[in-house]
Amino acid sequence: MADTSIPSFKAADLVIQLSSSLKTKPDVGEFGSVFTDHMLTIEWTATEGWKAPFIRPFGNLTLHPASTSLQNAIQLFEGLKAYRGDDNQLRLFRPMLNMNRMANSARRTCLPTFDQSELLECIRKLVEIEQDWVPHSDVASLYIRPTFVSTEQSLGIKKPTRALLYVILSPAGFYFKTTDAVSLWADPKYTRAWKGGTGDCKMGGNYGCSLYAQYEAVDYGCQQVLWLYGDDHQVTEAGTMNVFLHWINENGDEELATPPLDGIILPGVTRRSILELSRKWGEFAVTERYITMDQLCCAVKQQRVKEMFGCGTACMVCPIGRVVYQGQDLHIPHQDAKVTTRIAKELTDIQYGRTPSDWAFLV
Ligand code: COI
Repeated sequence: MADTSIPSFKAADLVIQLSSSLKTKPDVGEFGSVFTDHMLTIEWTATEGWKAPFIRPFGNLTLHPASTSLQNAIQLFEGLKAYRGDDNQLRLFRPMLNMNRMANSARRTCLPTFDQSELLECIRKLVEIEQDWVPHSDVASLYIRPTFVSTEQSLGIKKPTRALLYVILSPAGFYFKTTDAVSLWADPKYTRAWKGGTGDCKMGGNYGCSLYAQYEAVDYGCQQVLWLYGDDHQVTEAGTMNVFLHWINENGDEELATPPLDGIILPGVTRRSILELSRKWGEFAVTERYITMDQLCCAVKQQRVKEMFGCGTACMVCPIGRVVYQGQDLHIPHQDAKVTTRIAKELTDIQYGRTPSDWAFLV
């Protein structure tokens, strides 16, 4: 929904300056390591409001060393993708959900809001200009990274009076180096987010803070962290992903469960889409509920766990094969992961245009 509290920038005012030298397009490489020829920038100041959006050659930013995005992490980002179908049509997947989440993150960060559909139209235009960068592949896509940073020049902690919203694009293949099931290290001494905090917003700080635990997980022979919360060690997220458990629950019912959006969970677009798709199947209960490590351990021992997977825009759907928790090595079935496979197929069929859907936004 458009935010009318301050006049927004308008896509109709876009200024476009095309690059005179286009790069050769390398292979996608490691996630997030290759960038396209152009970027979108939109400046804001409290005195003048939003300036006209500008698509210009990709390049470095000039930031004052005291910028509060650098000093106090007053910044946020989004992640969505453009997919090329067999019909050569480019599609975004439910992009207004990203625009809305970005506006929510902006409010929580004390950055100005904007008209979400105007930003989407500017992004659509940028992707159209960079269309040759969208991989001709149904296992790759063009990752779109809207970013919003305070450019306030101050060592004081205060509401920004100037800011920069920018969007960069990066062709992307698989997020993880392998498509095998990931292993998770669950250590209750680490917490990703807490009630009243900012875990439901996409701020860079949430991710930067996770690195130390992530590398400890690697030291213990796992790939990612399973983030726990509270005295009862509730399962919350896995690495940078929302998490789902398909199991026979404690009441003997088949259930696909994911933790509820109670403020500490990122409201993922993939998470929401999985809930909506699997509810339509009508084959088992699909719930947003708390899952504690005791419940998970007990279910693994009693062989009631069918599958577990993480999901997010970058990785899409990622099977989980193992959870290591307080000396217990929990093996999660993943060889014949029917629900994970079915969900991945239904999502990619929409993203790559094989299944017509109003979730696909044509570029
Ligand atoms: C996503 O899945 O969209 C993410 O945000 C992960 C990312 C931090 C690369």
